[in-house]
Amino acid sequence: MSARQRLVVQGGKRLEGEIPVQGAKNSALPILAATVLIGGETTLYNCPRLTDCDATLRILSTLGCGCRREGGCVTVNASALTGTSISNSLMREMRSSIIFLGALLGRARQCRLSFPGGCEIGARPIDFHLAAFRRMGADIREEHGYLNCTAEKLKGARITLPLPSVGATENIMLAAVLAEGTTEIHNAAREPEIVDLSRFLEKCGARISGAGSETITIEGVRKLHGCDYTVMPDRIAAATYLCCGAATRGELMLTKADSRSMEPILSVLEQIGCSVYSFGEDCVYLNARKRLKAPPMIRTAVHPGFPTDAQPALMALCATLPGTSIFVETVFENRYRHVAELARLGAKINVEGRVAVIEGVDRLSGAELEATDLRGGAALVTAGLFAEGVTKIGKACYIYRGYEDLEARLRSVGAEIRTET
Ligand code: EPZ
Repeated sequence: MSARQRLVVQGGKRLEGEIPVQGAKNSALPILAATVLIGGETTLYNCPRLTDCDATLRILSTLGCGCRREGGCVTVNASALTGTSISNSLMREMRSSIIFLGALLGRARQCRLSFPGGCEIGARPIDFHLAAFRRMGADIREEHGYLNCTAEKLKGARITLPLPSVGATENIMLAAVLAEGTTEIHNAAREPEIVDLSRFLEKCGARISGAGSETITIEGVRKLHGCDYTVMPDRIAAATYLCCGAATRGELMLTKADSRSMEPILSVLEQIGCSVYSFGEDCVYLNARKRLKAPPMIRTAVHPGFPTDAQPALMALCATLPGTSIFVETVFENRYRHVAELARLGAKINVEGRVAVIEGVDRLSGAELEATDLRGGAALVTAGLFAEGVTKIGKACYIYRGYEDLEARLRSVGAEIRTET
């Protein structure tokens, strides 16, 4: 898909029907990187068809892994790595490829990859990652924009993270599963995707306890074996579809969802006035036909707080609700870039640092917009579905990084949405 592709949304259509939720991008990416640790074949099911997953498969191929995809099923054979370097262009495609640092140190005790830049939502430093690997015995040199990493021996260590960083927690887990001795991660991230990664690694023979809590203990083993594994549902994609449903005052049933991982999101939607029910663990029902009202205060936080990745789509919904909402974005320092685009639709939002004040309006009017990042782009779709007339969203490539078959899924429940180049 070209960078020139844009989405065209005809707003005002109520969404009604059933949407199957995709596999979780933020679980599939670290699990795909983790296949480097395994001297055999791994099969992943429910692996979402996303450009970020494609980029990760390209990296695996350049490292010498055999990769095959059939729909949502991906097979990776990492029996014989032929390289431990990741090029600048590949790293720039997706900065979260820093997760390969832990996997390659764990498997090959060496790695050369270009320093991942910041991105649209913030500086995204990796100091926690590097400090942890140095404590485990790695020698890491930053030269000419590259990280040159070697480790005679990788030994278990007690690591306390200054912040419960998702990526740092995952990277340390990947380096620790084949290290000598025991690693303890204190102040670990508790996101559901960490638990999914741990379950995958344990199925491959790793010895991990405490994933999902603030202390994770990993006992190094000598080797890991391949397995078959099903990636968890994407709670952020699910949240985005629910915000789209609520923005159109519609009625949606999400299937193949994971309601337990969505608690923080579901409780806010109920607070807004939506009827929200979970059926079993994998279905979530939303009815937004009743009169809705703005939630007074939304603070994003690490899990189990309200997820920062759902903040943009929720903000788009709040822009359409009667009342005023105050958002505080505590995780990333630059995650309001979608605000200027929402304002072009007529949204009334004021930003001061990490605080945004949203004054809901009863109408938005379609306009030509540009996606600023993945979740910001999804927020523009959410608002465009409510707005009167046509909204065009340029740089839709950002959105395709994290949303599988977005148009088809929304069209299947009544949205008028198409792609044009
Ligand atoms: C992961 O990013 C997700 N990405 C992000 O989702 C998500 O927003 C984020 O976690 C928070 O939940 C993937 O899983 C691929 P962090 P990550 O390390 O690991 C600071 C999306 O839209 N920090 O938890 O990069 C950092 O600056 C993406 O799907 C350091 O200071 O997030 C940030 O302020 C966007 N030093 C905070 O921690 C470090 O070494 C949280 O970042 C590492 C992080």
